[in-house]
Amino acid sequence: MSTSDTSKIPNSLQEHWMPFTSNKDFKENPRLITGAKGVYLTNHKGKTMIDGSSGLFCNPFGHGRKEITEAVAKQLEQLDYCQPFQQGFGGSFELATRISRHTPGNLNRIFYTICGSTAVETAIKISIAYHRAKGDSKRFRFVGRERAYHGMNIGATSVGGMVNNVKTFASVLMPGVLHMRHTHLPEHKFISGQPDTGAELANDLERLCANFGGENIAACIVEPIAGSTGTLVPPKGYLNKLREICDKHEILLIFDEVITGWGRTGSAFASQEYGVTPDIMTMAKATTNGVVPMGVVACKEEIYDAVIDAAPKGAVELFHGYTYSGIPVSVAAALAVQDIIEKEDIFNRVKEIAPYFQKGLFTLKDIDVVENIRGYGMMGGIDMKTNVKPGKAGFECFKACYEAGINFKATGDCLIIAPQFICEKKHIDEIIDKLRTGILSYSKNLKN
Ligand SMILES: Cc1ncc(COP(=O)(O)O)c(C=O)c1O
Repeated sequence: MSTSDTSKIPNSLQEHWMPFTSNKDFKENPRLITGAKGVYLTNHKGKTMIDGSSGLFCNPFGHGRKEITEAVAKQLEQLDYCQPFQQGFGGSFELATRISRHTPGNLNRIFYTICGSTAVETAIKISIAYHRAKGDSKRFRFVGRERAYHGMNIGATSVGGMVNNVKTFASVLMPGVLHMRHTHLPEHKFISGQPDTGAELANDLERLCANFGGENIAACIVEPIAGSTGTLVPPKGYLNKLREICDKHEILLIFDEVITGWGRTGSAFASQEYGVTPDIMTMAKATTNGVVPMGVVACKEEIYDAVIDAAPKGAVELFHGYTYSGIPVSVAAALAVQDIIEKEDIFNRVKEIAPYFQKGLFTLKDIDVVENIRGYGMMGGIDMKTNVKPGKAGFECFKACYEAGINFKATGDCLIIAPQFICEKKHIDEIIDKLRTGILSYSKNLKN
């Protein structure tokens, strides 16, 4: 393979230790992607596949967007890097203004990070910095939730709630983190949209306040819809209750909108979709259409003001940041995404196509090996019946679907479907047809 041609099959697969991958399985039967355009991917066998999960939920505006490529190329020629500490460039300020037009309430202060994990880590640090700035340094606890995914650095892993992600690293996780129960109840069967029952699960936070002292809790972090564990849609009233309890105990509420942000629900953010405003919000993925890494933390103005005003003039107010915080190449991609959102009226487009997707998704209900389906907007989760032992069905089914010509993400026994926002009805039909073919082929092999 030449040094510049990344579409060829490499001579060796051994040196690359792949993330969140069964390396043994992959290296025996590789799945290499050689190209991507619009809603389609091409693999190294020359097969075209439809992208059923917008990459890792990060390419919702379509693959190979010329506007983004051109903006990035132009930026690299004009200014390839500028250090983000004590220095800046116009683009990152313009982007902050444009992002803040979409954020709910007065979450108008924008901090750049590298990815979703670093956005969550930053939100954790900002929470602590805010309470300290207000003279309240005893708040050290964070509350997360079971079945949450917030990323993979120590902070994000600690507040997350996926057992396999924490088992190996338990000894180094943050102390003082508590978890609420997840919001999926046994009666939540084949529901498209928000379940009617389960709002009272938010009272777990009140209970933790009673047991550990609300005055010791800095922040509570949730994904409005838990994405990576299979689209767990919040019960009606659940997020409002969390907001009330946080207000009562002066706990900051953080919404992790790394998946739900930028239109996945049909609103800019799930916050607006569900009418609940957090104090801090994280985003990443779709911010740049996933083509270059970027994370964002949006904070209420009073959080920024408290931290900034607490420091003497001339001093660094927040001892936190990254070499790649809001660098030109990420900003250029994100600005191009902002243009696409405006020009193509993306949020309304999602609102229009989402019911068609939801209807199609739930037609898969009749397949024998399908245990449950959930969905909201352009997100869906399909639970497969357990195969031999829990956690095996998702990956096996993913492989069968890949052969059937559809790509998506599987977690445990769940298939996570998140079509691109640019999908037309014919693409949704293709996604559903290929899912059916793949799931049936998986199920046939089970019986043989
Ligand atoms: C809700 C949520 N938060 C954080 C992350 C971590 O993002 P990243 O992989 O960019 O670090 C993810 C990734 O899927 C996510 O879904």
